[in-house]
Amino acid sequence: MNSTKAKLDRFWSLTIQKYREGGVLNLLKAIPEGIKFLYKQILSESLIIDVKSKLSRYSSKELYYKTRSEKYLERFTEDNEASNLLFKLVNRNIDDTNLSDLSVLEIGCNAGRRANYLHENGIRDLYGIEINDTAIELMDKNFPQLSSDINVTEGRAQDVISKFESNKFDVVYTVSVLMHLDNDVEQLFDEIKRITKPDGLVITMECENSEYVLNKLDLNEDYSDWQKHRNYQEVFEPRGFSQVEQINAWDAGNEAEQLSVLRSHYKNGTHTARVFRNTGSL
Ligand SMILES: C[S@@+](CC[C@H](N)C(=O)[O-])C[C@H]1O[C@@H](n2cnc3c(N)ncnc32)[C@H](O)[C@@H]1O
Repeated sequence: MNSTKAKLDRFWSLTIQKYREGGVLNLLKAIPEGIKFLYKQILSESLIIDVKSKLSRYSSKELYYKTRSEKYLERFTEDNEASNLLFKLVNRNIDDTNLSDLSVLEIGCNAGRRANYLHENGIRDLYGIEINDTAIELMDKNFPQLSSDINVTEGRAQDVISKFESNKFDVVYTVSVLMHLDNDVEQLFDEIKRITKPDGLVITMECENSEYVLNKLDLNEDYSDWQKHRNYQEVFEPRGFSQVEQINAWDAGNEAEQLSVLRSHYKNGTHTARVFRNTGSL
């Protein structure tokens, strides 16, 4: 807890300095900020996260993401080529629809770099779900034009997805998000099916391949606790989707290369992009 104490001391001296000029009343305004800060710091202590995850329905990974600070989130505002691949996958698989009419949801949108790319390319009816409120604040700061159009719901995807009506979205996508989820996921997958329009698309760009990660990359450590690898064809086809495209980051070709920028914790080349069409059945 020593590092928390040092951060708290620093926070208070900065806050007091910030409010001192405005007198005592302004100083009082610092209290809610202080409570929020302290709460986040305490939550981010890993021991407490472990205990909390046992007491709550959040996994320790979800609590970790929920409490990540602005400092760690800044890198999610830097765009990379995977956004271009995502846009191409949407564009070439949606028939006869004006892009501005598409209704699109990103689960785990963070500060919005993927959604911003879609927005810059004409997709306007955008929705997001994000567990981390600081990431949503960063979106306002970094992508103000996106921010004025997108509708972001703060919360755990498994909980808040139920607020969307059935058959609402032309596209539901995730980029490096499902690979971190380890509880209540079956319900989440069912909900993704429910909210996707018949003929609509689900796109996953996720690390799926434990064998590749652990063997081909010569990793000694097993980080299966850190990432949950699934084959999303096996997840979505039994739910009435049909896979229309698959790209592996470790194959040759320009798109595989674009995908490989979504690197695993250690090296490039571990993700798989899949596009599924909702056949409407089941
Ligand atoms: C590796 S980041 C990817 C962010 C973004 N998709 C991108 O490509 O830049 C994973 C994101 O999922 C969010 N997240 C993790 N668990 C979540 C959950 N249960 N519900 C909603 N968002 C979640 C994290 O806060 C984080 O923003």
